[in-house]
Parts: sequence; structure tokens; C-alpha cells
Amino acid sequence: MTIDWNNLGFEYIKTPYRFLAKWTDGAWNKGELTEDNTLHISESSPALHYGQQCFEGLKAYGRKDGGINLFRVDENSKRMNRSAQRLRMPQVPQEMFIQAVKDVVKANREFVPPYGTGATLYVRPLLIGVGDTIGVHPADEFIFTVFCMPVGPYFKGGLTPTNFIVSDYDRAAPNGTGAAKVGGNYAASLLPGEEAHEKNFSDCIYLDPETHTKIEEVGSANFFGITKDNEFITPKSPSILPSITKYSLLHLAEHTLGLKAIEGDVYLNDLDKFVEAGACGTAAVISPIGGIQTHDDFHVFYSETEVGPVTKALYEELVGIQYGDRPAPEGWIFDVK
Ligand code: PLP
Ligand code: COI
Repeated sequence: MTIDWNNLGFEYIKTPYRFLAKWTDGAWNKGELTEDNTLHISESSPALHYGQQCFEGLKAYGRKDGGINLFRVDENSKRMNRSAQRLRMPQVPQEMFIQAVKDVVKANREFVPPYGTGATLYVRPLLIGVGDTIGVHPADEFIFTVFCMPVGPYFKGGLTPTNFIVSDYDRAAPNGTGAAKVGGNYAASLLPGEEAHEKNFSDCIYLDPETHTKIEEVGSANFFGITKDNEFITPKSPSILPSITKYSLLHLAEHTLGLKAIEGDVYLNDLDKFVEAGACGTAAVISPIGGIQTHDDFHVFYSETEVGPVTKALYEELVGIQYGDRPAPEGWIFDVK
């Protein structure tokens, strides 16, 4: 297969190897790499009926020296275990998680996009409840699998701003599963996402499900804004996904760019205070937000066509660290040897 590294979108590509381990009788087996990209599971698997599943997303970056970096994979492991606990699934030991990711990246080394193409190898760990269970209670068998594919930008345009629309739907409930990376949240976002695309927006912005007055997040990324007073502000809410990219940006905004980094409320009627805004996440990286369509207004931040200076500086710092071009805070980079 020849791949046009510079023109990849965010789509499934079957790579040769994936890792698969099984939980039966209360324990994980050793797991192994396999070439089979299909799963053979019971028709009554709780993952299929009751959404007992969770997943992760991270990337492998081809360095200038030919090596490969992973970014904060330990945080993905911790988050998967928090999601697993919320949905009554077994913990995946961190050692097994990280080793599986490294093994899958190494086995598919030829699919790691070369440095300079702007593409990355997207890695998708997945944990599902399987077996013959038809009542609404946790599965007694589970599968943990990790697969990967080369990807380009998630939102078309990369660092070119795109527009978003505020949704009337909620993706999560106040005390629901919004903070867990579970399929049900994404199923709930399909219709709102499609409606946003039909109106030519990149995606929708969800509001807090309790009062519908504050920005929560985008369907597949967290939100941040930069104020005229050099503050980096990102929503704090128990019903959004705790984005690893967001926490990395909070750190870099404060320690590298000298901004005031704040996790707090972002009221919809207070958007004027932001001079720049963006969506951040593993797939989204940093996608500048040109404007947001609310019920009665189209609010433009920096520009609909150009990325703002602070968003650009954050992007360069984050991506520079991920590719190994800039020094990383202790423990952020894992070398895939
Ligand atoms: N919010 C949602 C709903 C997501 O799906 C993602 C993607 O993982 C994010 C935020 C960003 O999280 P992270 O930076 O850990 O990839
Ligand atoms: C990610 O950024 O890894 C995501 O999971 C977002 C989306 C593709 C679901």
C-alpha cells in the first residue's frame, strides 16, 4: 500500500498488526499481536447492547532522527482505568497498556508517518465487555485491544480556523458519564454533529447540561480561550472529558508562555472577553476557532481566516514537544524503542 502522507484525513486504514488480550475467570491473559482486524464475540455481549465499553486515543510521532515518540501515554492508561471503573470493567494494568501501545507501534513501524509530513500514527486502545450476558449487569469477559492507523488533521484545514455552532442537545448528563471516554457519549453526539456539518460548521459546542449557560466542550475536543489580559481559560466541569492535551496546554501556557492559566466557567454571554479561541485534543491537536454561532449571534474571535498569535505559539510549543524538537516537561515523552 502506498500512502500519501501529506494528504491523509482522519479515516480508518487497516494496518498489519493489533494487540488483543482477554479477561476470563477474573484475570487477563498475556495477550498477543494478531493480524486479524475482526472481533469474534457473543451476540449478547454487553458492549453491544448496553454500551459497556471505553476507549482511548493517542498518537505516535515520527521524530527528525527517525525515532518514535509517544506523548503522555501513562495519562491515557490512567484515564482508561477511570472510565473502566465508571462502567464496571476490569482495570488494565498500566504496564500492559503501555507495552501493548509500544508493541503495536513497533509492529506497524512502516505506517508511522515520516517527520515533516504533519501526519501521525493514531493509536486506539479499546476495552469492551463481551460474553453471554443478557441482563443489565456487568460482563464477566472482556477484550482489551489496541490498533493504529496513520492520520492527518481531524478538522479540515489544520491550523486554519473553522467555525462551530452551539448545540441545544446535551452530550452528557450532570452526573452522568461525560468525564469517561465511553462510546455512549459519542453515540449521543452523532446527530448533533451531523446537524452542525449540514450547516457547514466543523462541529458543535455543548453547553453545561444543568443551566445551558456555559461552554462545556466540542464533540471531540475541549475548548479554550485567550483573553486580552493574557489569560488562558478552559472550562472546568465534571461532565466534560478531562483532556490530556488541555492539561498539557494549561501547563505550557503558564510555564512557557507566561500566561495566567485558569480552569473555570466560560459563560456564553461573556465571549467578548476572548481575543482567541480554540479546540484542543489528541485528534484535533489545536484547531483555532474562527467563530461560534449562538442562537442570536455569530461571534468571531481573532479572525475567520487566520490563527491568532497565542494559539499559534501554543501549537508550536505543543507539537514541538510531541515531535521531540523542543524540550519536554519531565515524563511527557516516551521513546518507542
Ligand atoms: N473531549 C472529547 C469529547 C474527546 O473525545 C477528546 C479526545 O480524546 C478530547 C476532549 C480531548 O482529549 P485528549 O486531549 O486527551 O485527546
Ligand atoms: C481523540 O482525540 O483521540 C478522540 O478520541 C477524538 C475523536 C476521534 C473521538
